[in-house]
Amino acid sequence: MPRQLRDVVFVDGVRTPFGKAGPKGMYHETRADDLVIKCIRELVRRHPPSLPPERIGDVAIAATTQTGDQGLTIGRTAALLAGLPRSVPGYAIDRMCAGAMTAVTTTAAGIAFGAYDVALAGGVEHMGHHPMGDGVDPNPRIIAEKLVDPSALVMGQTAENLHDRFPHLTKERSDAYAAASQAKYAKAVADGKIQPDLVPVATRSSENGWGLAIADEPPRPGTTVEKLAELKTSFRPHGNITAGNAAGLNDGATACLLASAEAAEELGLTPKMRLVSYAFAGVEPEFMGIGPVPSTEKALAGAGLSIDDIGLIEINEAFAVQVLAFLDHFGIADDDPRVNPFGGAIAVGHPLASSGVRLMVQLARSFADHPEVRYGITTMCVGLGMGGTVVWENPNHADYNSEPATEEVAA
Ligand SMILES: CC(C)(COP(=O)(O)OP(=O)(O)OC[C@H]1O[C@@H](n2cnc3c(N)ncnc32)[C@H](O)[C@@H]1OP(=O)(O)O)[C@@H](O)C(=O)NCCC(=O)NCCS
Repeated sequence: MPRQLRDVVFVDGVRTPFGKAGPKGMYHETRADDLVIKCIRELVRRHPPSLPPERIGDVAIAATTQTGDQGLTIGRTAALLAGLPRSVPGYAIDRMCAGAMTAVTTTAAGIAFGAYDVALAGGVEHMGHHPMGDGVDPNPRIIAEKLVDPSALVMGQTAENLHDRFPHLTKERSDAYAAASQAKYAKAVADGKIQPDLVPVATRSSENGWGLAIADEPPRPGTTVEKLAELKTSFRPHGNITAGNAAGLNDGATACLLASAEAAEELGLTPKMRLVSYAFAGVEPEFMGIGPVPSTEKALAGAGLSIDDIGLIEINEAFAVQVLAFLDHFGIADDDPRVNPFGGAIAVGHPLASSGVRLMVQLARSFADHPEVRYGITTMCVGLGMGGTVVWENPNHADYNSEPATEEVAA
């Protein structure tokens, strides 16, 4: 029987406030899976009775490290612990920083194929409990046979490599970009743009007792380029990457609700975005930060769009230089207002496998503010040399769901 692909919509997304990893961070004594459970429960709580839990066809949760409180097939355990019916299956997923993005594209593909109508997708990383690289055992051939440069295994060094490759992307430009990210995030909080998508988390500390996480912990409002210029470089003496122009080490979780367009209509769920296309691409692992360039080119080609059709860009800020390399490639100014209007990971943090859905949550909110924008992208670089990009359409736009504007022009 011939199959017809079905449209997939992003109905809603939430995240925990992001924390600083380490003994002083607010989630140090909170389990990673409990962060995920909070997000799943919040999505179900927000949509009664439109979302009968038994209609959820699958739960995909990403984590880069899948042991301990991020192990035991976290999509399944988190679904059970969140109180979803036992008939709802779940699984774990990993594409490092693009874990949650891959959870979204994979479950969306399942919806488009007709395997199920509704899915939950998200990610978690508790970098305090699971420091980057902890327990990994890279195959010695990777280095011995020079399959990749050893710097490919240290993300900060890959960012230094980008500064080497593109000397016009100076540390001063990176620092200016980083300070602007902090300022945009602070303004977004003042404007009430961040808080509605956060799910509060009860925290505990043997030292300080119980607490309630209601706001992101990593941002440093008031960051200046002068202060950033004074920070010592973290990955190379006299290098370019500092704690100020890189994302930090963080704890947090995200999740979103996806549905086929038909199921959303049937259940009375209002879409915040429509999935147009997506792509992942590989690049030299030692220059992993450039990954969003080819993945965006592929995703745009798949959508029949060009970068000029994209009115909003949510790009993960693993490192300022890697965002600048992307913007430079597409001829976009460092301070273009279409880019990360609410700030990015340099301010808010980057709990690796969770961040893909944070980008989507912010794009959805920007879409609501900008009905004149028809298309936006979420994009990110990925460890070991990859990029991922998802193209989304804004349901608030007058031409929503009609043929792409470029084809109309061509016709
Ligand atoms: C860059 C990195 C090594 C810094 O780690 P760190 O040294 O523990 O960072 P800290 O938060 O302690 O900051 C270091 C210093 O910079 C200061 N600092 C950080 N951000 C600042 C800002 N925006 N303004 C002013 N000072 C700042 C801190 O106060 C601290 O100062 P101190 O040493 O006097 O206490 C770490 O954040 C990192 O590895 N980031 C990359 C994560 C990554 O690779 N993710 C995956 C991407 S693919």
